[in-house]
Amino acid sequence: MNPEEQNKVLDAWQTSARYWDKYRVLIAQMFAPLTSGLIEEARIGTGQKVLDVGGGSGEPSLTISSIVGPTGSVMYTDPVAGMVETAQAEAGRRSQTNIQFRQCSADDLPFGDGAFDAAVSRLSAMFFADPGTAVRDTLRVIRTDGYVAFAVWGLEEANPFFTTVNDVVDRFVESAEQDPDVPDAFRFAVPGKLAGILENAGAKNVIERQLNFQIEAAISFEQFWQLRTEMSGSLREKMAGLSPAQLPTVKQAVADAAQRYFVRGTMSFPAQALIVSGRRSAI
Ligand SMILES: C[S@@+](CC[C@H](N)C(=O)[O-])C[C@H]1O[C@@H](n2cnc3c(N)ncnc32)[C@H](O)[C@@H]1O
Repeated sequence: MNPEEQNKVLDAWQTSARYWDKYRVLIAQMFAPLTSGLIEEARIGTGQKVLDVGGGSGEPSLTISSIVGPTGSVMYTDPVAGMVETAQAEAGRRSQTNIQFRQCSADDLPFGDGAFDAAVSRLSAMFFADPGTAVRDTLRVIRTDGYVAFAVWGLEEANPFFTTVNDVVDRFVESAEQDPDVPDAFRFAVPGKLAGILENAGAKNVIERQLNFQIEAAISFEQFWQLRTEMSGSLREKMAGLSPAQLPTVKQAVADAAQRYFVRGTMSFPAQALIVSGRRSAI
Protein backbone atom coordinates (compact mmCIF):
# COMPACT_ATOMS: atom_id res chain seq x y z
CA MET A 1 0.00 0.00 0.00
CA ASN A 2 1.42 3.42 -0.90
CA PRO A 3 1.64 6.17 1.77
CA GLU A 4 -1.36 8.01 0.29
CA GLU A 5 -3.60 4.93 0.59
CA GLN A 6 -2.28 4.30 4.07
CA ASN A 7 -3.15 7.84 5.16
CA LYS A 8 -6.65 7.40 3.78
CA VAL A 9 -7.12 4.29 5.95
CA LEU A 10 -5.83 6.10 9.05
CA ASP A 11 -7.94 9.21 8.34
CA ALA A 12 -11.06 7.04 8.17
CA TRP A 13 -10.17 5.50 11.56
CA GLN A 14 -9.56 8.97 12.97
CA THR A 15 -13.13 9.90 11.96
CA SER A 16 -14.38 6.57 13.37
CA ALA A 17 -12.71 7.14 16.76
CA ARG A 18 -15.56 9.25 18.18
CA TYR A 19 -18.11 6.60 17.21
CA TRP A 20 -16.03 3.75 18.64
CA ASP A 21 -15.95 5.80 21.85
CA LYS A 22 -19.71 6.45 21.68
CA TYR A 23 -20.46 2.72 21.30
CA ARG A 24 -17.68 1.43 23.55
CA VAL A 25 -20.01 -0.41 25.96
CA LEU A 26 -21.83 -2.15 23.11
CA ILE A 27 -18.56 -2.93 21.32
CA ALA A 28 -17.13 -4.53 24.47
CA GLN A 29 -20.32 -6.63 24.83
CA MET A 30 -20.76 -7.60 21.19
CA PHE A 31 -17.18 -8.68 20.60
CA ALA A 32 -16.45 -10.12 24.08
CA PRO A 33 -16.23 -13.71 22.72
CA LEU A 34 -13.30 -12.58 20.53
CA THR A 35 -11.49 -11.18 23.56
CA SER A 36 -12.00 -14.46 25.44
CA GLY A 37 -10.72 -16.39 22.42
CA LEU A 38 -7.60 -14.23 22.20
CA ILE A 39 -6.88 -14.52 25.93
CA GLU A 40 -7.17 -18.29 25.69
CA GLU A 41 -5.06 -18.69 22.56
CA ALA A 42 -2.32 -16.31 23.80
CA ARG A 43 -2.34 -18.08 27.24
CA ILE A 44 -2.68 -14.75 29.07
CA GLY A 45 -2.60 -14.89 32.86
CA THR A 46 -1.68 -13.00 36.02
CA GLY A 47 1.59 -11.10 36.03
CA GLN A 48 2.20 -11.11 32.27
CA LYS A 49 3.37 -8.23 30.09
CA VAL A 50 0.97 -8.08 27.14
CA LEU A 51 1.04 -6.04 23.92
CA ASP A 52 -2.25 -5.02 22.25
CA VAL A 53 -1.81 -4.11 18.57
CA GLY A 54 -4.48 -1.81 17.09
CA GLY A 55 -6.39 -1.39 20.36
CA GLY A 56 -9.00 1.05 19.02
CA SER A 57 -11.27 2.40 21.77
CA GLY A 58 -9.55 0.15 24.31
CA GLU A 59 -10.35 -3.51 23.78
CA PRO A 60 -8.95 -5.99 24.51
CA SER A 61 -6.44 -3.89 26.55
CA LEU A 62 -8.97 -2.91 29.24
CA THR A 63 -10.16 -6.50 29.80
CA ILE A 64 -6.62 -7.90 29.78
CA SER A 65 -5.47 -5.25 32.28
CA SER A 66 -7.78 -6.85 34.89
CA ILE A 67 -6.56 -10.35 34.05
CA VAL A 68 -2.82 -9.63 34.31
CA GLY A 69 -3.48 -7.64 37.50
CA PRO A 70 -1.15 -5.24 39.33
CA THR A 71 1.88 -7.51 38.88
CA GLY A 72 1.40 -7.52 35.11
CA SER A 73 1.00 -4.78 32.50
CA VAL A 74 -0.56 -4.00 29.15
CA MET A 75 0.95 -1.92 26.35
CA TYR A 76 -1.90 -0.53 24.24
CA THR A 77 -0.91 0.61 20.73
CA ASP A 78 -2.79 2.16 17.81
CA PRO A 79 -1.55 4.49 15.02
CA VAL A 80 -4.61 6.76 15.25
CA ALA A 81 -4.43 9.67 17.73
CA GLY A 82 -8.21 9.78 18.29
CA MET A 83 -8.28 6.09 19.23
CA VAL A 84 -5.36 6.46 21.65
CA GLU A 85 -7.03 9.47 23.33
CA THR A 86 -10.38 7.73 23.88
CA ALA A 87 -8.80 4.49 25.14
CA GLN A 88 -6.50 6.37 27.51
CA ALA A 89 -9.36 8.50 28.84
CA GLU A 90 -11.41 5.36 29.56
CA ALA A 91 -8.53 3.67 31.40
CA GLY A 92 -8.23 6.87 33.49
CA ARG A 93 -11.96 6.87 34.31
CA ARG A 94 -11.63 3.25 35.46
CA SER A 95 -8.36 3.90 37.32
CA GLN A 96 -6.66 1.06 35.43
CA THR A 97 -3.08 2.10 35.97
CA ASN A 98 -1.27 -0.97 34.62
CA ILE A 99 -1.90 0.07 30.99
CA GLN A 100 0.49 2.24 29.00
CA PHE A 101 -0.42 3.90 25.72
CA ARG A 102 1.70 4.37 22.59
CA GLN A 103 0.62 5.82 19.25
CA CYS A 104 2.33 3.57 16.69
CA SER A 105 1.70 1.31 13.73
CA ALA A 106 1.94 -2.49 13.87
CA ASP A 107 4.73 -2.51 11.30
CA ASP A 108 6.96 -0.16 13.30
CA LEU A 109 6.67 -1.06 16.97
CA PRO A 110 8.92 1.11 19.17
CA PHE A 111 9.84 -1.71 21.57
CA GLY A 112 12.87 -3.87 22.14
CA ASP A 113 13.20 -7.52 21.10
CA GLY A 114 11.43 -9.89 23.48
CA ALA A 115 9.89 -7.04 25.52
CA PHE A 116 6.52 -8.80 26.08
CA ASP A 117 5.23 -12.22 27.12
CA ALA A 118 2.39 -12.20 24.59
CA ALA A 119 0.67 -10.05 21.96
CA VAL A 120 -2.96 -9.84 20.86
CA SER A 121 -4.75 -7.95 18.14
CA ARG A 122 -8.55 -7.83 17.88
CA LEU A 123 -10.05 -7.01 14.46
CA SER A 124 -7.06 -4.87 13.44
CA ALA A 125 -4.80 -7.09 11.30
CA MET A 126 -7.09 -6.61 8.27
CA PHE A 127 -6.18 -2.92 8.26
CA PHE A 128 -2.40 -3.25 8.56
CA ALA A 129 -0.62 -1.48 5.70
CA ASP A 130 1.88 -4.32 5.39
CA PRO A 131 0.66 -7.42 7.27
CA GLY A 132 3.88 -9.41 6.68
CA THR A 133 6.08 -6.72 8.23
CA ALA A 134 3.53 -6.13 11.03
CA VAL A 135 3.39 -9.80 12.02
CA ARG A 136 7.21 -10.08 11.90
CA ASP A 137 7.56 -6.99 14.11
CA THR A 138 4.95 -8.29 16.56
CA LEU A 139 6.84 -11.59 16.86
CA ARG A 140 10.11 -9.69 17.32
CA VAL A 141 8.89 -7.93 20.47
CA ILE A 142 7.65 -11.19 22.09
CA ARG A 143 9.91 -13.40 24.19
CA THR A 144 10.99 -16.78 22.83
CA ASP A 145 8.07 -19.27 23.05
CA GLY A 146 5.60 -16.43 23.81
CA TYR A 147 2.27 -16.38 21.96
CA VAL A 148 0.79 -13.95 19.43
CA ALA A 149 -2.93 -14.14 18.58
CA PHE A 150 -4.91 -12.22 15.96
CA ALA A 151 -8.72 -12.15 15.72
CA VAL A 152 -10.11 -11.46 12.23
CA TRP A 153 -13.54 -11.87 10.65
CA GLY A 154 -14.44 -15.15 8.94
CA LEU A 155 -16.30 -15.45 5.67
CA GLU A 156 -18.69 -12.66 4.70
CA GLU A 157 -21.61 -15.06 4.19
CA ALA A 158 -21.23 -16.24 7.82
CA ASN A 159 -21.41 -12.65 9.13
CA PRO A 160 -24.88 -11.15 8.59
CA PHE A 161 -24.03 -8.38 11.09
CA PHE A 162 -22.19 -6.90 8.09
CA THR A 163 -23.90 -8.36 5.05
CA THR A 164 -27.48 -7.38 5.95
CA VAL A 165 -26.41 -3.75 5.53
CA ASN A 166 -23.62 -4.04 2.96
CA ASP A 167 -25.55 -6.19 0.47
CA VAL A 168 -28.43 -3.71 0.32
CA VAL A 169 -26.19 -0.64 0.08
CA ASP A 170 -24.15 -2.32 -2.67
CA ARG A 171 -27.33 -2.66 -4.75
CA PHE A 172 -27.70 1.12 -4.73
CA VAL A 173 -24.10 2.36 -4.80
CA GLU A 174 -21.76 1.14 -7.49
CA SER A 175 -18.49 -0.07 -6.05
CA ALA A 176 -15.35 -1.09 -7.90
CA GLU A 177 -14.20 -4.73 -7.95
CA GLN A 178 -12.48 -5.28 -4.60
CA ASP A 179 -8.78 -6.18 -4.54
CA PRO A 180 -8.52 -9.00 -1.93
CA ASP A 181 -5.40 -7.39 -0.46
CA VAL A 182 -6.67 -3.92 0.32
CA PRO A 183 -7.59 -3.12 3.94
CA ASP A 184 -11.10 -4.44 4.52
CA ALA A 185 -12.97 -6.29 7.29
CA PHE A 186 -12.87 -9.54 5.27
CA ARG A 187 -9.29 -9.37 4.00
CA PHE A 188 -8.27 -12.44 6.05
CA ALA A 189 -11.56 -14.34 5.88
CA VAL A 190 -10.15 -17.04 3.61
CA PRO A 191 -8.88 -19.90 5.80
CA GLY A 192 -5.09 -20.16 5.81
CA LYS A 193 -4.35 -16.64 4.54
CA LEU A 194 -3.30 -15.01 7.81
CA ALA A 195 -1.91 -18.32 9.13
CA GLY A 196 0.39 -18.39 6.07
CA ILE A 197 1.62 -14.88 6.91
CA LEU A 198 2.46 -16.00 10.47
CA GLU A 199 4.30 -19.04 9.13
CA ASN A 200 6.25 -16.92 6.63
CA ALA A 201 7.15 -14.55 9.45
CA GLY A 202 8.79 -17.44 11.30
CA ALA A 203 6.11 -18.23 13.91
CA LYS A 204 5.96 -21.83 15.15
CA ASN A 205 2.91 -23.86 16.26
CA VAL A 206 0.61 -21.77 14.05
CA ILE A 207 -3.05 -22.60 14.70
CA GLU A 208 -6.17 -21.21 13.06
CA ARG A 209 -9.28 -21.61 15.19
CA GLN A 210 -12.71 -20.90 13.77
CA LEU A 211 -14.88 -19.18 16.34
CA ASN A 212 -18.63 -19.27 15.81
CA PHE A 213 -20.50 -17.02 18.19
CA GLN A 214 -23.48 -14.64 18.49
CA ILE A 215 -23.10 -10.87 18.30
CA GLU A 216 -25.63 -9.94 20.96
CA ALA A 217 -26.87 -6.75 22.60
CA ALA A 218 -30.16 -5.43 23.94
CA ILE A 219 -30.65 -2.93 21.12
CA SER A 220 -33.38 -2.22 18.55
CA PHE A 221 -33.00 -2.26 14.78
CA GLU A 222 -32.96 1.56 14.90
CA GLN A 223 -29.94 1.53 17.24
CA PHE A 224 -28.23 -1.16 15.12
CA TRP A 225 -28.72 0.93 11.98
CA GLN A 226 -27.22 3.99 13.62
CA LEU A 227 -24.30 2.03 15.07
CA ARG A 228 -23.42 0.32 11.78
CA THR A 229 -23.72 3.41 9.62
CA GLU A 230 -21.61 5.48 12.03
CA MET A 231 -18.87 3.01 13.01
CA SER A 232 -17.69 1.83 9.59
CA GLY A 233 -15.60 4.15 7.41
CA SER A 234 -16.32 2.19 4.22
CA LEU A 235 -20.06 2.25 4.90
CA ARG A 236 -20.02 5.96 5.69
CA GLU A 237 -18.32 6.55 2.35
CA LYS A 238 -20.87 4.44 0.43
CA MET A 239 -23.84 6.00 2.25
CA ALA A 240 -22.58 9.43 1.20
CA GLY A 241 -23.18 8.27 -2.39
CA LEU A 242 -26.91 7.74 -1.78
CA SER A 243 -29.40 10.44 -2.67
CA PRO A 244 -31.70 11.70 0.14
CA ALA A 245 -34.60 10.00 -1.66
CA GLN A 246 -32.80 6.61 -1.68
CA LEU A 247 -31.97 6.62 2.03
CA PRO A 248 -35.41 5.57 3.42
CA THR A 249 -35.69 2.83 0.75
CA VAL A 250 -32.26 1.45 1.68
CA LYS A 251 -33.04 1.61 5.39
CA GLN A 252 -36.35 -0.22 4.91
CA ALA A 253 -34.70 -2.95 2.80
CA VAL A 254 -32.05 -3.44 5.52
CA ALA A 255 -34.81 -3.53 8.19
CA ASP A 256 -36.56 -6.30 6.23
CA ALA A 257 -33.34 -8.29 5.80
CA ALA A 258 -32.37 -7.86 9.46
CA GLN A 259 -35.81 -8.51 10.97
CA ARG A 260 -35.12 -12.10 12.02
CA TYR A 261 -32.09 -11.05 14.06
CA PHE A 262 -34.17 -8.79 16.32
CA VAL A 263 -36.46 -10.61 18.71
CA ARG A 264 -38.14 -9.12 21.81
CA GLY A 265 -35.84 -6.09 22.04
CA THR A 266 -32.62 -8.03 21.59
CA MET A 267 -30.26 -8.19 18.65
CA SER A 268 -28.58 -11.55 18.00
CA PHE A 269 -26.54 -12.18 14.85
CA PRO A 270 -24.65 -15.42 14.22
CA ALA A 271 -21.01 -14.55 13.52
CA GLN A 272 -17.79 -16.22 12.50
CA ALA A 273 -14.23 -15.18 13.26
CA LEU A 274 -10.81 -16.76 12.99
CA ILE A 275 -8.30 -16.64 15.81
CA VAL A 276 -4.88 -17.16 14.31
CA SER A 277 -2.10 -17.77 16.79
CA GLY A 278 1.52 -18.84 16.88
CA ARG A 279 4.62 -18.76 19.04
CA ARG A 280 7.88 -16.92 18.76
CA SER A 281 10.69 -19.24 17.68
CA ALA A 282 14.01 -19.18 19.48
CA ILE A 283 15.96 -15.98 18.75
C1 LIG B 1 -11.89 -2.58 13.84
S1 LIG B 1 -10.87 -1.56 14.83
C2 LIG B 1 -10.57 -2.63 16.16
C3 LIG B 1 -10.26 -1.90 17.44
C4 LIG B 1 -10.21 -2.75 18.72
N1 LIG B 1 -9.07 -3.65 18.73
C5 LIG B 1 -11.49 -3.50 18.96
O1 LIG B 1 -11.52 -4.70 18.68
O2 LIG B 1 -12.47 -2.90 19.42
C6 LIG B 1 -9.38 -1.55 13.92
C7 LIG B 1 -8.23 -0.76 14.54
O3 LIG B 1 -7.05 -1.02 13.77
C8 LIG B 1 -6.27 0.15 13.82
N2 LIG B 1 -5.26 0.14 12.76
C9 LIG B 1 -5.35 0.61 11.48
N3 LIG B 1 -4.16 0.52 10.85
C10 LIG B 1 -3.29 -0.03 11.74
C11 LIG B 1 -1.88 -0.35 11.71
N4 LIG B 1 -1.16 -0.13 10.62
N5 LIG B 1 -1.33 -0.83 12.83
C12 LIG B 1 -2.06 -1.06 13.95
N6 LIG B 1 -3.38 -0.78 14.03
C13 LIG B 1 -3.99 -0.27 12.95
C14 LIG B 1 -7.31 1.26 13.66
O4 LIG B 1 -6.81 2.51 14.06
C15 LIG B 1 -8.43 0.74 14.57
O5 LIG B 1 -8.32 1.25 15.87
